[in-house]
Amino acid sequence: MKNHIVIKNTLSPFNKIIEVSGDKSISIRCVLLASQAIGKSRLYNLLESEDVINALKSIKKLGINYKKNKKFYEIYGYGLNGFNSKKNVTLDAGNSGTLARLIMGLLVNSEKQIKIIGDESLSRRDFSRITEPLKLFGANIIAKKNSLPIKIKGTKFLRPIKYHEKLGSAQCKSSVMLAAIKTPGKTIIKAKKSRNHTELIFKYLKIPVKSVIKKKLDIIEINGPSNFQGFKYRVPGDISSSSFFLVLALLCNNSKIVVKNVNVNRSRIGIIKILNKMNAKISLKNKKIYNGEKIADIIVKNKRSLKAINCPKSLNSSAIDEFLVIFLVAAKARGISKFSNLSELNKKESPRLDIATNILKKIGIKFERQSDNIKIYGNPNLNLKGKYKINNFRKDHRVFMMSCIAALSFGGEWKIEDKDSIKTSFPKFLKLLRELGAKII
Ligand code: S3P
Repeated sequence: MKNHIVIKNTLSPFNKIIEVSGDKSISIRCVLLASQAIGKSRLYNLLESEDVINALKSIKKLGINYKKNKKFYEIYGYGLNGFNSKKNVTLDAGNSGTLARLIMGLLVNSEKQIKIIGDESLSRRDFSRITEPLKLFGANIIAKKNSLPIKIKGTKFLRPIKYHEKLGSAQCKSSVMLAAIKTPGKTIIKAKKSRNHTELIFKYLKIPVKSVIKKKLDIIEINGPSNFQGFKYRVPGDISSSSFFLVLALLCNNSKIVVKNVNVNRSRIGIIKILNKMNAKISLKNKKIYNGEKIADIIVKNKRSLKAINCPKSLNSSAIDEFLVIFLVAAKARGISKFSNLSELNKKESPRLDIATNILKKIGIKFERQSDNIKIYGNPNLNLKGKYKINNFRKDHRVFMMSCIAALSFGGEWKIEDKDSIKTSFPKFLKLLRELGAKII
């Protein structure tokens, strides 16, 4: 079956209310934490994508059962020592860095040796960032070249650690936090700012966690071991998935969109802050709280008066998964936009900064790139006429989706490969685009 799509037409004006799928980061955390709870947990609106299914399959291999019901997933945990696997279990994290890194945190007390593998993209990513702190807890880790496959065997003699997380990686911070709930004593993490879903869900589960929020870093203290009961959780909509639609509405003439029930946690709304600095006038309505996470409906209207941004690097972490589409807005804004310190972008499912610059070049957008900084010369009259083929992007779901948004808003004839990549995070992406009127062949 063909695994590419073709887009030849820009989108006609639309005015729609949509809902995107559940948040990926929160869904994976919920599955992993439910596997450690005592008793039954119920997860509503769990994202049903490959990354999350791989999390469910992984806990199952570790002896934790789950059941899918019409409205929720039920997971049956046996507490912090409840993993019970056969010998030589191999967990396949597929494309998901979050799953691979977070589950390693839960394996610091594993009696058996567990092997973790991933797909081609994940196997190229650095794991030293997480093996180093986990070894300090006492875990035995075998990793050739600091990447997957990795073998991990836990210890009965876990010791708490003091850890300085300097990359701004929520995956590293969270993995250490998960190891800390199994470890007797106080683990102290000094972490550069990153998304704080793990802190919030720990608070919701009444796991003893203390976080002191400073300007540039957070100090997190966890007292373990800390068992907790099965729980109910409603996963909010994913702001990263929403961002494709926010940008589409912003760039398509006379269009408007409302994305309902999206997680608008402060550590995730960099895209809204950045676009509003570019004059997007995005607003939030119906604010509420689900299980400690802020939720709102996001409203965006087409804006012809977008202006360039000198993007403060303090916003990088809260927009880290959204830069691909932010670059598209910069391409159509008046003036020269500047983004800096984006080295972490090249450590994602693909080297996203490199791939984004390749795509900008291919479609004739003027830019200047110096190591991890980029200047994009915007053109408010941008209207493409050429033929563009987008391939060789390591099946990165966000590159595929960014290319669709570029095609639908800038024009030209686009052939975009690796359609299946969206299964990792947002399987209903193309269906939603079609509901807005997109003609996708
Ligand atoms: C994630 C953290 C971010 C993000 C990724 C999901 C998470 O990665 O890019 O998509 O769920 O913790 P890093 O922690 O590597 O920055």
